[in-house]
Amino acid sequence: MAASDREDWDRRHRAVGAGAGAGAALPPDALRGRLELVPETGRALDLACGRGAVAVWLAGRGLDVVAVDVSPAGLAAGAELATALAPPGRIRWVEADLDDGFPTDDGVYDVVVRQRFRVPALYPALAAAVAPGGLLAITVLSEVGDSGGRFRAAPGELVAAFAGFDVLAHHEADGEAHLLARRP
Ligand SMILES: C[S@@+](CC[C@H](N)C(=O)[O-])C[C@H]1O[C@@H](n2cnc3c(N)ncnc32)[C@H](O)[C@@H]1O
Repeated sequence: MAASDREDWDRRHRAVGAGAGAGAALPPDALRGRLELVPETGRALDLACGRGAVAVWLAGRGLDVVAVDVSPAGLAAGAELATALAPPGRIRWVEADLDDGFPTDDGVYDVVVRQRFRVPALYPALAAAVAPGGLLAITVLSEVGDSGGRFRAAPGELVAAFAGFDVLAHHEADGEAHLLARRP
């Protein structure tokens, strides 16, 4: 990622929350209505975690979380939110550019989340990061219900990319696609 793009994300994250301390912990969108499926122990990975709302929710659920983003400002906001709302020491914040590839090589995770960040080249690594029996929760911008564009997933993209997974929920509408799937 170009330095100017990273600075742009930093600016956006700073603009949201200066002084607010931070917002709320939120479950992943793809898991809404299915929260009972989320384990209360184990490990979770949140890629492109932004300001950490989902990572903090997962930590509050009981998981040990690795939260990755390219933006130091987003990660700082996440850490601040965690101080207020998550049990101490449950989240490892990792600054990494996902354009350079998958950032962690420390095994598999019981829950893997990637929300509103789409890099199809990462799909295989994402699939491999889910533990057998683990959950994958993805939300991306979609061409379905929108005019399209290079950041949007084509219809059926998520189901095709994770063809070896058991699909628990798949929804495409209004410019977003959600996939909730379990690795067999
Ligand atoms: C639309 S936000 C989504 C944040 C969060 N997942 C959510 O749903 O609220 C996209 C996030 O992706 C991060 N991002 C963009 N490009 C990235 C890259 N190449 N590597 C890592 N993170 C990136 C941005 O900093 C931003 O936090």
